[in-house]
Amino acid sequence: MKTEIVDPSKIFFAVQWLKKGEPIVFPTETVYGLGAPIFNVTAVKKIFSIKGRPSDNPLIVHVSSIDEALSLIDEVPPSFLLLAHHFWPGPLAFVLKAKPHIPQVVSAGQPTIAIRMPSHPVALQLIREVGSPLAAPSANLSGKPSPTCAKDAAEDLEGKVALIIDGGPSLIGIESTVLSLAHSEPTLLRPGQITKKELEEVLQQKIVEPSLSPDAPILSPGTKYRHYAPQAAVRLVYNREELRGPCILSRFPLKGEKLLCKQTLFSEFREADRRKEAVIEIYCDPLIETDAALMNRLLKASGRG
Ligand code: TXA
Ligand code: MG
Repeated sequence: MKTEIVDPSKIFFAVQWLKKGEPIVFPTETVYGLGAPIFNVTAVKKIFSIKGRPSDNPLIVHVSSIDEALSLIDEVPPSFLLLAHHFWPGPLAFVLKAKPHIPQVVSAGQPTIAIRMPSHPVALQLIREVGSPLAAPSANLSGKPSPTCAKDAAEDLEGKVALIIDGGPSLIGIESTVLSLAHSEPTLLRPGQITKKELEEVLQQKIVEPSLSPDAPILSPGTKYRHYAPQAAVRLVYNREELRGPCILSRFPLKGEKLLCKQTLFSEFREADRRKEAVIEIYCDPLIETDAALMNRLLKASGRG
């Protein structure tokens, strides 16, 4: 299949492909997504085959309004309305009880559904013009770092999708915070730009984190797979003297180091792979450990998360 990369003025073509049941790649403020309309089961199945995604890993559904989200949720908790009004549109996905008409393929057979209203204007326009919520995982091959620009999405999906909308670099650069409101207590399933503390402040309630014990139930299927990993080995270094180079990411680049920040982390991983680096060293200064979202991605990339 020939892949066209177009600018957002050609959104009409994306709408047409989606209406015909062909998944396409679109920009969001977190990372690029590979989307399909949620009620087109054949199109949603294509997402799994294009990415090589395990079929037990559910997808996040993208909506363009709170009302659209409400049409997908059974038993709406007041905490959802409170948080959605505060943080949407934005990098926060909620796991909630799904209405029975949601296709099983979207939720990977779970009774719950993950929903997010992105803030990227192109993503919002696309969802509105298609007239349907879009199921969209990150637009990478399963296991690779999420793409944060059209070029990185094309590196993985060229020839596998009909269209990529180039909306420029994703502003946030890591995937959304995932919060479950379907468990007995609000549970943080994936840390992201919106922090646990910010959520707790609005909710006026404690948020729990899933137990890391190997015997604990898996609340979010995605967390059991190795993720965000470049080909190069990722080595986390806590002591500056132990850095060897040549490929070092650091929050305070000195000589020859590259900047470590959320927005460019995944693109730096891909750049390092293009240069065929064997090892990427990350200098974890003491402050980095206070950034739960960044630390989560670094640990996963190093194979320890
Ligand atoms: O920022 C984002 O959320 C991006 C952009 C494209 O919006 N999307 C994204 O999707 O990161 P994906 O598929 O790469 O990650 C979805 C995560 C996975 O860890 C998955 O297991 C979890 O959300 N998830 C989805 N539905 C769930 C559910 N019903 N229960 C628990 N976890 C769920
Ligand atoms: Mg992903």
